[in-house]
Amino acid sequence: MSQIVIIENNETLRSLIEMIMMKCLGLNVVSQNNADEAMAFLETDFNNELIICRDNIGGEKSTLLIIEFLKNNKLNVPLIVLGEVVSDYPNLFCLNLFDDSSWKEIVYKAGAILNIEINLKQNLQTQSFTPVGINYFLNIGDSCIHSDIYIRVKKGDEYHFIKRFHAGEQLIQKDIEKYKSSGLKFFYISKDQFKDFVDQSTIDLALKLGDKKKSGKDRNKLNSDSYNLTAERIQCLGIDEISVQLVEASVLSMKESLGEKNALNAFLESLQSNKNSYGFAHSYLSCLILHQIAHNFYWFTFRVKEKITLITYFHDISLPEELVGYNSADEVMSSQLVQSDRDLINNHAMLAANIVGAFEFVPEEVSSIIREHHGATNGIGFPSNLNISISPISQMFIVVEDFVDQFLKIKSVPSEADINRILSKIQSKYTKLTYEKTATALSKMIQLKK
Ligand SMILES: [Fe+2]
Ligand SMILES: [Fe+2]
Repeated sequence: MSQIVIIENNETLRSLIEMIMMKCLGLNVVSQNNADEAMAFLETDFNNELIICRDNIGGEKSTLLIIEFLKNNKLNVPLIVLGEVVSDYPNLFCLNLFDDSSWKEIVYKAGAILNIEINLKQNLQTQSFTPVGINYFLNIGDSCIHSDIYIRVKKGDEYHFIKRFHAGEQLIQKDIEKYKSSGLKFFYISKDQFKDFVDQSTIDLALKLGDKKKSGKDRNKLNSDSYNLTAERIQCLGIDEISVQLVEASVLSMKESLGEKNALNAFLESLQSNKNSYGFAHSYLSCLILHQIAHNFYWFTFRVKEKITLITYFHDISLPEELVGYNSADEVMSSQLVQSDRDLINNHAMLAANIVGAFEFVPEEVSSIIREHHGATNGIGFPSNLNISISPISQMFIVVEDFVDQFLKIKSVPSEADINRILSKIQSKYTKLTYEKTATALSKMIQLKK
């Protein structure tokens, strides 16, 4: 069976890639924490079809070390770098991922290199039992498992698989630790349960989000990861039971952050140091600002606030991360994008409204505001005139999102002059009804913060 090696220290990302690669590519995946561990393994096993390696791990120049190893051993294995590296190694593919949860891109790249067509719904797993590293089970905390878990024992020349934990059972960390200290490296999942097992693993992140102890920067990073994971899952697999669970956990976690003391300041601070995705950052910041200016509008009740949280979370859910920043017809026109991406951007408000409509817990009004969130009543295109027939919440959202987009597009820390420039543009552009009131409330809020 073909084998690939992953060298990555982020356990969540590694487990996800590992299991999805096994499921969708039908490959055996060997995980390593750093280049040193990986080289010790590669010395004993030369039969690898692909290596995926983080550029730097904890100060170690991991990819460069691996390249040197491959050259010294005259190996020409394809190497996907998660990050950036400069080298003359001929079989090198750099993936400059915007954040850590872009597992989909990594899986597609691996499929392209190995000439295997990827269908994320398919289970290409061919082995009767698939090994899953024991650390994965140490990562998930005491939780209910949804697949039977086996260990492998050798009897004579043959391997036998013995069920150790049953589906539906509570997995206790202490038991797993005992197996680990006895030297066990892998548990095994049967072929017929492997797809469900992989699906379940994607909601682990959602379970972690329930951790009330997380706050500030840590929670923002988690919210950002889970937003991306959820959006990607919906975009490629549609809405299934797991997407719904992810969305619910993800929205709850975002609410938890919104309720933290000085949430806006904490988020602005974390923006400087944190690699939040743009998709998440612009949604969350819009939400924070909308909540802060709410008291200027008599109709802004608690229920409206709840709706605003859902609108900001979902409004661009139909767009992949790299297309979220396009917010006007001009930007799309002057871009180098292919026609299918242009069409997707043009229709994204309508598509997002359709996606949201499929979630039973989301009120209907949320979906209609998402459809209007660029001003077009049918959710297609970017009208240049202010549409005064759309709902006041939509008008409010348009003004705040415009401000947030201009604010986030400033590469360095925005100066007072930058903010004043953005505000004066906003005030001269939005001169009618709730548009105008929102622009005024926004200026007032920012003047007070100075
Ligand atoms: Fe947006
Ligand atoms: Fe949008």
